Amino acid sequence: MNIIRFQKINSTQEYAKLNINSIVPPAIIIAKEQENGKGRHGRRFYSPEGGLYFTFIIEWNNPYLSMLVPLSITEALDEIGIYTEILWPNDILFNGKKIAGILIENIGEKNLIGIGINCNNRISDFPEGIKDSLTTIYEIKKENINTEELCVLIVEKLLTISNYGDIKNMFLKRMKGKGENAKIKMDDGTIIEGQIQGISDTGGLIIKKNGKTTEIKSIEKLIII
Ligand code: BTN
Repeated sequence: MNIIRFQKINSTQEYAKLNINSIVPPAIIIAKEQENGKGRHGRRFYSPEGGLYFTFIIEWNNPYLSMLVPLSITEALDEIGIYTEILWPNDILFNGKKIAGILIENIGEKNLIGIGINCNNRISDFPEGIKDSLTTIYEIKKENINTEELCVLIVEKLLTISNYGDIKNMFLKRMKGKGENAKIKMDDGTIIEGQIQGISDTGGLIIKKNGKTTEIKSIEKLIII
């Protein structure tokens, strides 16, 4: 595996995009700090020193990718004793607090899988407005971990959770908010409310609204109410 390491970078995802034609997949761009980490929907992903920030580039036409990526993170965190849940589509939560985020982008046939995990950093390293909504591995375990080892473990899990028949059930077991009501901000800004039923075979969100079930493929934000 081609691994490109940085202590500090602007964004591993932006680096991957800028250099997509010269990086041979599978490859990992990994950093311990990002000055301008990118989140979903153009949001910022705060990436203070001590975290695990990486973009895994692979050419993999896998329709289950959006489920496999969060699952691989939850399974890897299990191995260090941290049980996490998935808030659809792909926030990873520990006791309701965000510990990891995922940004999957595609360029041609290549998948750019961006993963950020709060590891050896402290809640106090993050800006005031978001401190209450997140946690870090250090805050849970009171010890530092080897971030590159965690990265390799996640990539190994991602490439080996290949029994497609189980993926939906594995995801459902980890999914936060099943049966609960949620407020969903759609990509176009409209807000809808409904009860979370589960997911479809390809990982879409199934909600029940006014007695009718609907599948939602993409959203900006989901809040369980
Ligand atoms: C989100 O929670 O909105 C997604 C966060 C994705 C963050 C990762 S960190 C590694 C990669 N580089 C980035 O700039 N973003 C992704």
